[in-house]
Amino acid sequence: MAEVQLRSVYKSFGDKEVIHGVDLDVADHEFMVFVGPSGCGKSTLLRLIAGLEEVSGGEISIGGERVDELPPAKRGCAMVFQSYALYPNMTVYQNMGFSLRLARANKEFIRARVHEAAETLQITELLDRKPKQLSGGQRQRVAIGRAIVREPRVFLFDEPLSNLDAKLRVQMRIELAKLHRKLAATMIYVTHDQVEAMTMADKIIVLRDGYVEQVGRPLELYHTPANLFVAGFIGSPAMNFMSGRILDCSDNAVSVVLDGGLGMSVPCRPKNGATQGAPIQLGVRPEHLNIDGHGDLQIPGKVFAAERLGGETYVYVITKEGKEITVHAPGDKVVSEGDEIVVGVSAESAHLFEQHGNAFERLAA
Ligand SMILES: Nc1ncnc2c1ncn2[C@@H]1O[C@H](COP(=O)(O)OP(=O)(O)OP(=O)(O)O)[C@@H](O)[C@H]1O
Ligand SMILES: [Mg+2]
Repeated sequence: MAEVQLRSVYKSFGDKEVIHGVDLDVADHEFMVFVGPSGCGKSTLLRLIAGLEEVSGGEISIGGERVDELPPAKRGCAMVFQSYALYPNMTVYQNMGFSLRLARANKEFIRARVHEAAETLQITELLDRKPKQLSGGQRQRVAIGRAIVREPRVFLFDEPLSNLDAKLRVQMRIELAKLHRKLAATMIYVTHDQVEAMTMADKIIVLRDGYVEQVGRPLELYHTPANLFVAGFIGSPAMNFMSGRILDCSDNAVSVVLDGGLGMSVPCRPKNGATQGAPIQLGVRPEHLNIDGHGDLQIPGKVFAAERLGGETYVYVITKEGKEITVHAPGDKVVSEGDEIVVGVSAESAHLFEQHGNAFERLAA
């Protein structure tokens, strides 16, 4: 079993605290993805788990065993970095077998492990090459192979695909998902890529400035973000936000009036302190808006840009109040810069956030 647990983990560099008491449970065999803005502590958390950094406080355990006092080699983790850092003078075979050689494993054992990993990653025919004779994707596979041969309990990936071109990234993403199923190992994966996070993760953890904002299944985060930050971070292009005030609350709906005077009733459970006149943010994803004016709220505006991608179009609209809204429209919609249109919002697709940014519980998901 290789579940990973963090209990109240703190990390400071000098007198600067960058991880502020993180609790986290990664289940055995789970694929956990860390996302969050640059500098929020994703790599630091991975390095703490791997033992490449020491915790300043709290506990880390793997498979029920406390590991935060153990050296990296005793933790059963293998880490794959963004820069794959292969040894240039060694062949692929030697690179992949290096950690086992260091651990004084015998030759036959190393040979068997390296060949098995190479087969899994379909790089057997590359074993005699040097890294400089490989493409970026092949090098990345060797870096992953180097991790696999150690048969770690936990794989830690720090943006492993970000150096690859878009097509190769898609290919490797699918291969990594297959690998996860095949090895049935616990994996923790850091990425900036929304699609990677949404498609690969069993669970996503959203970090911000060294705090956990929310943990959940990808679609939970998409449909029921806990707060404004998660709502704005998960989903691409990002959710649109419009400010307004509460007009009226009942047990299962909040009526709001937006700046500019338009009003709508949103099916949700208001939190304590939701009172008439309190400021709110209304959030709606681009894919839940339309440019035909259908729905419970009609927002007039002018198109200031339209990006036609073929199958879909992103329409950028500016409202009378000067607010910019992104709308996702079908690719065959004819719309041009300068067009006056009406953006339609259905109450069911709307998210509502109170003044501190916490979401009201949605009643229609
Ligand atoms: N060795 C170090 N010494 C001092 N500060 C550090 C050190 N390593 C990281 N930090 C700081 O800790 C914070 C978290 O850094 P970290 O590398 O974990 O961020 P990240 O989420 O991985 O960012 P990115 O997405 O840019 O890779 C940052 O403010 C960073 O400057
Ligand atoms: Mg990082």
